[in-house]
Amino acid sequence: MAFKVVLALVTLVTAALAAPSKRVTCSPGRVVSNAACCKWFPILDDLQTNLFDGGQCGEETHESLRLTFHDAIGFSLSAERRGIFGGGGADGSIMAFAEIETNFHANNGVDGIVEVQRPFALKHQVSFGDFIQFAGAVGVSNCLGGPRLQFMAGRSNISRPAPDLTVPEPSDSVDKILERMGDAGFSPSEIVDLLISHTVAAQDHVDPTIPGTPFDSTPAEFDPQFFVETLLQGTLFPGNGSNVGELESPLAGEIRLQSDALLARDPRTACEWQSFVSNQALMVKKFEAAMAKLSVLGQKTHELIDCSEVIPVPPLAKSNVAVLPAGKSLADVQAACAATPFPTLQTAPGPATTVARVPPS
Ligand code: HEM
Ligand SMILES: *[C@@H]1O[C@H](CO)[C@@H](O)[C@H](O)[C@H]1NC(C)=O
Ligand SMILES: *[C@@H]1O[C@H](CO)[C@@H](O)[C@H](O)[C@H]1NC(C)=O
Repeated sequence: MAFKVVLALVTLVTAALAAPSKRVTCSPGRVVSNAACCKWFPILDDLQTNLFDGGQCGEETHESLRLTFHDAIGFSLSAERRGIFGGGGADGSIMAFAEIETNFHANNGVDGIVEVQRPFALKHQVSFGDFIQFAGAVGVSNCLGGPRLQFMAGRSNISRPAPDLTVPEPSDSVDKILERMGDAGFSPSEIVDLLISHTVAAQDHVDPTIPGTPFDSTPAEFDPQFFVETLLQGTLFPGNGSNVGELESPLAGEIRLQSDALLARDPRTACEWQSFVSNQALMVKKFEAAMAKLSVLGQKTHELIDCSEVIPVPPLAKSNVAVLPAGKSLADVQAACAATPFPTLQTAPGPATTVARVPPS
């Protein structure tokens, strides 16, 4: 009898797998499994042309990716347990209540991208929460070697302002960052996974005298350079001396956040950090998983529709492995993962690497 049941089950499962899933053609070449996703294609086209400068991994992409975090991390499990409102997560509240949330200290500078994005969200009549996550996913798909992030559609447009102090600061201790992020549901390793975002990132406000100063030498590439460069011994401040939340960086034209430097060296996070240095593919996989979680914080996921098929397939990475910047050697690496030796890396040829600033337009 057991055998018959198993056989019947196998037959059923095989039939289900073989059955062609429903496909809906939105427009020529654009096929999805749920018709509700079709409306995102015109939004995609509009964003690529009019927000991301024809599909670039530039400033607007970086800012849009940062915004996904600053909206979503307004969320607190401990507040929820106590019956207090700790923020609605990825709910668009940072756009709906920009006059409140963008004045929080940790949100310094996000007002710009909120105001740039808002007219797009209004024009296409989608919720602010959906729009912010969609724009971040589309933007980062433009980066060389980028992830193809999951995009779930259907967040409510109704939200309440998140409370202050949910967004980590670069001057925070590792304990404080682990505690705050843990309260949003992220493990120490998942925090590192989210910080993969800083491979396509620059600052305007930590040292306001040098806006557009990147965190690694390749801010338009979703590559592992960030993970090796943050582990190099710091030697200089790229701008006007030391600022709050800043430590010495190893390269002229590059800035180092204190939080990135400390997480790279802390025993709780160092091994996850180092694991990406020679594994770009792993980095992409881990970022996709962590962002899938971040982008639906506070949302009833069973009520959302998976429209990930609308997100473009990113261009392939140049290499799976980071290089030591020209002029550096393994002796400059402050390896901090006790369990695994630091991988042997090639050094880029030529004169010492310097990084070009891209001042905001
Ligand atoms: C410990 C947590 C984090 C801290 C302390 C932190 C801090 C910062 C700071 C200080 C900046 C520079 C902002 C400016 O001066 O203009 C920045 C930029 C950025 N952050 Fe983070 N961040 C964290 C986590 C994240 C996460 C989880 C994401 C996304 C998933 C993210 C994405 C970005 C991006 C893309 C930029 C570059 C923005 C641009 O180039 O305009 N960050 N971050
Ligand atoms: C979302 O809410 C804002 C107000 O916060 C409103 O201006 C906008 O029209 C709403 N969008 C949709 C699609 O309902
Ligand atoms: C540079 O930093 C010093 C103090 O560290 C400050 O007095 C000065 O105003 C800064 N310069 C600029 C251009 O911000």
